[in-house]
Amino acid sequence: MFETAFLDVPALRAVHGTVRLPGSKSISNRVLLLAALCQGRTVVHDLLDSDDTQVMLQALRQLGCGVAVEGTRAVIDGLGGRANRPRQAALFLGNAGTAMRPLTAALAVLGGDYALSGIPRMHERPIGDLVDALRALGCDVRYTGQDGYPPLAIGEPRLQLGQPIPVRGDVSSQFLTALLMALPLAAGRPGAQDIVIEVVGELTSKPYIEITLQLLARFGVQVRREGWQRFVIPQGAAYRSPGNIHVEADASSASYFIASGALSAGAEGQNGLKIEGVGADSIQGDIRFVEAARLMGARIDSGPNWLRVQRGRWPLAAIDLDCNHIPDAAMTLAMMALYADGPSTLRNIASWRVKETDRIAAMAAELRKLGAQVDEGADFIRITPPAAWEAARIHTYDDHRMAMCGSLAAFNPAGLPVRIEDPRCVGKTFPDYFETLFAVAEPAGPLPVICIDGPTASGKGTVAAEVARRLGYHFLDSGAIYRMTGLAARRQGLAPEPPHEAAIAALARALPARFGAGRFWLGEQDVSDAIRTEAAGMDASRVSALPAVRQALVELQRASARLPGLVADGRDMGTVIFPQASLKVYLTASAAERADRRHKQLISKGIPANIDSLRADLEARDARDKNRASAPLKPAQDALLLDNSHLSIDQSVDQVLSWWQARQPF
Ligand code: DC
Repeated sequence: MFETAFLDVPALRAVHGTVRLPGSKSISNRVLLLAALCQGRTVVHDLLDSDDTQVMLQALRQLGCGVAVEGTRAVIDGLGGRANRPRQAALFLGNAGTAMRPLTAALAVLGGDYALSGIPRMHERPIGDLVDALRALGCDVRYTGQDGYPPLAIGEPRLQLGQPIPVRGDVSSQFLTALLMALPLAAGRPGAQDIVIEVVGELTSKPYIEITLQLLARFGVQVRREGWQRFVIPQGAAYRSPGNIHVEADASSASYFIASGALSAGAEGQNGLKIEGVGADSIQGDIRFVEAARLMGARIDSGPNWLRVQRGRWPLAAIDLDCNHIPDAAMTLAMMALYADGPSTLRNIASWRVKETDRIAAMAAELRKLGAQVDEGADFIRITPPAAWEAARIHTYDDHRMAMCGSLAAFNPAGLPVRIEDPRCVGKTFPDYFETLFAVAEPAGPLPVICIDGPTASGKGTVAAEVARRLGYHFLDSGAIYRMTGLAARRQGLAPEPPHEAAIAALARALPARFGAGRFWLGEQDVSDAIRTEAAGMDASRVSALPAVRQALVELQRASARLPGLVADGRDMGTVIFPQASLKVYLTASAAERADRRHKQLISKGIPANIDSLRADLEARDARDKNRASAPLKPAQDALLLDNSHLSIDQSVDQVLSWWQARQPF
């Protein structure tokens, strides 16, 4: 997940390959509870790992379920209705509405002595309509805080199921879902009759009820639906484990990848973007986004659990569409409208106004920044594509969908990057959204690369790593690559000297180096500490003077330039490895200052050091790095010089970032 203040997405040209999307949150938690209510074992595949699913799993453990989770696979040994379960538990459910509501209903029907609570925000989320319905059927549910809200206490029920059970459907469909999942527990009792639920008021979010009904059917319970007003759970209904069940990927999340496939320039012979985890037989309402995307010209093939998307018609066709059935995914259509051949109108989207933010206002404001002309009304938005695209900073309003939508502006034909503010808000449903996009996206132009070169102990490693962290870019510590090469050579008994040049170059070409998050591996071995000794630094300096070795390491270094960008530190990043880099900085400090910094660094690690010999060493190293014939250390012609002898790390970082910002179009 990108934890940065903003993320600059470079202009993108195409997407290809395969994406596997994370499981849907609402399906994950429903499946976990249903598996828990069955007899026997259910293996759940592709489970979402999120705060809300963790909360559900923990609650199920406390209730006596067998729960074994390995990655995205969970093995649940169900409670089998009523026997042997702990009759007493205090469940803490965080802020997970998808755990609080259905667990309340299920436990109220099963009976026991349970306390259910959550974080303060959970105690502000109404649950009165559900509690009223449960009380009407004879459950003992009490408020232990404020009336109408969690926390709750649950006791033993005296079920009266002869009458239809009324539940309000116009506030949240989750209350009906909770009852639908709980009541089959009562339908199998001796003498039970059909159980009837009657919805009071117009039912909202019908697609979510559809998901519930589909999942109940997979767990052996066929609910009869009479319109959207009456739901009948047949007498004798009982949960049966399906054995294995796959959690579908979130169909709304898929919409961003469907859109990017439709916007992708793609090359001959490339077969578009394959999206795995959700497909033609999806039980989620938002899958109907596929039809809307096809209307705009996307070419979409599908199978049971996959979609394949390619650009079809280009530019896209403008549309005028009632989007009430796909409120979330319709935001993605607003982004696609930027690439259409005329104005598009999305209608019947009043619900946008009461989501994470006022999404109609937010979308209008951000699309205008990109150069589009936008009209908005109480329940519609009309978008005329930009006559001239503008580079924009997309504000995201703490709304995951605004952030994901914003990234789709990166396909603009003007080749402009787009800045997404507060990218971490995607964590709500899709923490790795940007990583997933970058893994399949091809940039439209050269990648952003910042080179920070300079002599040893100038602070370039620390500055470069921090610049990379603030921008969310990859980081290449090229010195570490020479250090690993020197170490690998020593271990093979090869002294870092000219007679071994060819042998060390061969070693370097096949160097089994891996690195990330400040750690370095040679093969399976973590050499992060071994490469940091003074002796290893000296060896690195020696191997790096051998031209064949330098040549052998070029590709390994260039391969680090990946989306969304790279900060590289070393000696020849700006001169040899990335001569086209967008920003080159040459960082220096006086020899006295550098010796002092290195001294402090070693002492802090508990390594004894002498400041005079350190200074002599680093001057010798400078002399070798500067005077070697191959790629000597020197500032690139177009480098900006930064003497940081009297600057703190933060000041140096701020200077580099302000140079960088000055080169951005937003
Ligand atoms: O930055 P460092 O101290 O970890 O680098 C170790 C040695 O590697 C340094 O003395 C010179 C060499 N080096 C190089 O020649 N070219 C680079 N791009 C990076 C390091």
